[in-house]
Amino acid sequence: MVDVAPGAGAIGEPMERLEGRAKVTGTAPYAYEHPFDDPLYLHPVLSTVARGRVLSVDTAKAETIEGVRALLTPWNAPRLVDTGDREFAVLQDREVLFRGQFVAAVIADGPEIARQAADLVRVEYEALRHEVDPSSPGREVYRPDAEDAGVEPDTEQGDVEGALAAATVRIDHTYRTPRAYNNPMEPHTTIALWEEETERLTLYDSTQGVHVVRGTVAEVVGLDPERVRVVSPHVGGGFGSKGSAHAHNVLAVLAAKASPGRPVKFALTRRHMFSLVGYRPDTVQRIRMGAEEDGRLGVLVHDVVETSSRAKEYAEMSGACSRTMYAASARRTTHRLAALDVPIPFWMRAPGKAPGMFALETAMDELAYACALDPIELRARNEPERDPQTGLPWSGRHLVECLRRGAERFGWDERDPKPRARREGDWWVGTGVASSMYPRSTMPGSVAEIAHEGQGRYTVSIGAADLGTGTWTALTQIAADALGCGIDRVRLRIGDTDLPPASVAGGSSGISSWGSAVVAAARRLRDEHGGDPAPGARSRAGTPHNPDEERYALYSFGAHFAEVRVNADTGEVRVPRMSGVFSVGRIINPRTARSQLVGGMVMGMSMALHEEGVVDPRFGHVVNGDLAEYHVPVNADVGRVEAEWLEEADPRVNALGAAGVGEIGIVGSAAAVANAAFHATGTRVRELPLTPDRFLS
Ligand code: MOS
Repeated sequence: MVDVAPGAGAIGEPMERLEGRAKVTGTAPYAYEHPFDDPLYLHPVLSTVARGRVLSVDTAKAETIEGVRALLTPWNAPRLVDTGDREFAVLQDREVLFRGQFVAAVIADGPEIARQAADLVRVEYEALRHEVDPSSPGREVYRPDAEDAGVEPDTEQGDVEGALAAATVRIDHTYRTPRAYNNPMEPHTTIALWEEETERLTLYDSTQGVHVVRGTVAEVVGLDPERVRVVSPHVGGGFGSKGSAHAHNVLAVLAAKASPGRPVKFALTRRHMFSLVGYRPDTVQRIRMGAEEDGRLGVLVHDVVETSSRAKEYAEMSGACSRTMYAASARRTTHRLAALDVPIPFWMRAPGKAPGMFALETAMDELAYACALDPIELRARNEPERDPQTGLPWSGRHLVECLRRGAERFGWDERDPKPRARREGDWWVGTGVASSMYPRSTMPGSVAEIAHEGQGRYTVSIGAADLGTGTWTALTQIAADALGCGIDRVRLRIGDTDLPPASVAGGSSGISSWGSAVVAAARRLRDEHGGDPAPGARSRAGTPHNPDEERYALYSFGAHFAEVRVNADTGEVRVPRMSGVFSVGRIINPRTARSQLVGGMVMGMSMALHEEGVVDPRFGHVVNGDLAEYHVPVNADVGRVEAEWLEEADPRVNALGAAGVGEIGIVGSAAAVANAAFHATGTRVRELPLTPDRFLS
């Protein structure tokens, strides 16, 4: 057990974002806005077949446009050193692996020139038969690589078939979630500059991890990482899609190498983002439960089939939540992938947990009805004493507290448990509940450096990222607390590979990983230089190893409540009220934390009602690949959303007692909305999104 640092006042204050003023006045530089006098602009040409080979690229017409500097094709693009990862082997061969892949690019004096010229490039293909539809008969599925998945794809405990046969109450349903796209406000952008004399590559990049992008780019182009610098002070959202480099980084680097000494600016369009920066793959999830009449689960089976890409494996671990959530002596989870000729899926806020908990928490609601039990009571009866997967004790499992507190806040007890019981005018009205969870994880490899600048002022340096979550503010608070000084005495530096290394802003691990490095560095400064360090004193420390990670099951939990209204005539679904209570350790900044939780809940509501990438099986493209037709909620779709948390600190997670809050808000929220829609209408929809037609008989 590590001791919780004593609060010096800074932690727990609802500080406004330090960079807020700069952002709203337009002076916070985003990657694409980094000022250069004489930049070049890049615009790509994307494949229009889903599988095949490029036969020829006719650039003659494009080259006649004034201001066009160069055209990159598979024939003339600079060669990469490592082409093992197909996502990054940009323009290295003529193979087309999905529709929307880079097949050529224009470098020009202006963005409009580049775009116009790109439109004039003619590409001839040899098209091969493609498969983009996961439900097509005969498509094969396989077990993913455990290393890609991050965990074992299959688990089994106890006598599953025997327990299913012996159960008094059985649930057996299949749930489906569609392809979903991250769509941060700021598109993926990068500026690449190659300086030939010094052999230095610089990227101004919109990313969740400067060191991650540097590592990939250095490897792909065969440069010593020391020769690659990645800078990213402000990011306009990512939701995971900026959690790694993608092909556009490599294309920008190729263009920069073809134009040494001149920075090349590259901003993806919204439509480009539907094939090049990842997405949540579609899932088919069969859940089987066997329970006693009193609701106690004897067996839980979660079998998942999901889309992956032939270009590169990505395994969404949707069934993993069923390893942890509830007690059942027999249990099985499996994951199978259908590798298709589609773009490469990647992280989208709470990968695995977001789609998985939609299925599990809807199934729990179905079980509650089957046992005629209140859904909160059902969950309380299935509380596991230890983590069912590992047998480890919980560092703190407060799921039932969240459910009970939330029920009180929401007015759950006034509810008539019968579905289709409440009608107000033209609207059926219902309420629903679902659990939430997220691992409390800390990533290794971050280092913080603290320098005393004199007069009690400190510079704190770490290559962390603020993708819009509040890192600038929260890390400053953590540093001030650890140094025992005021916020105004701390100058934080993040978002640059010239700073000490930092793990990716992903897996809700940022605050824990970087924050504990900052705390460790502050302690070392005191150890090495005393309580009153001389000007110029500096110390470095890394994220400490936490032995409790092997001794405890470290999880956050939460409870979602939703009120849903479904129009009796049109099937229109509205969500006037959402309420969430979370157990997420100590809160560093209530203002930014609430914003993360509320944002996650809204994204879950969006997952429930709006988001669906529709793929045309004939051509393999996303038909609704823009914000006009790929629906995300606007303010008019969002009702009252409340998020609160239990007062706690988990000393087993880190010295701060704090866990991340970036993802747990989305986990389970779609199920709460879908369960409320069932309660309103009596219609159980097991396939997202809950479009109006599903409520019209
Ligand atoms: Mo988050 S989807 O782990 O960047």
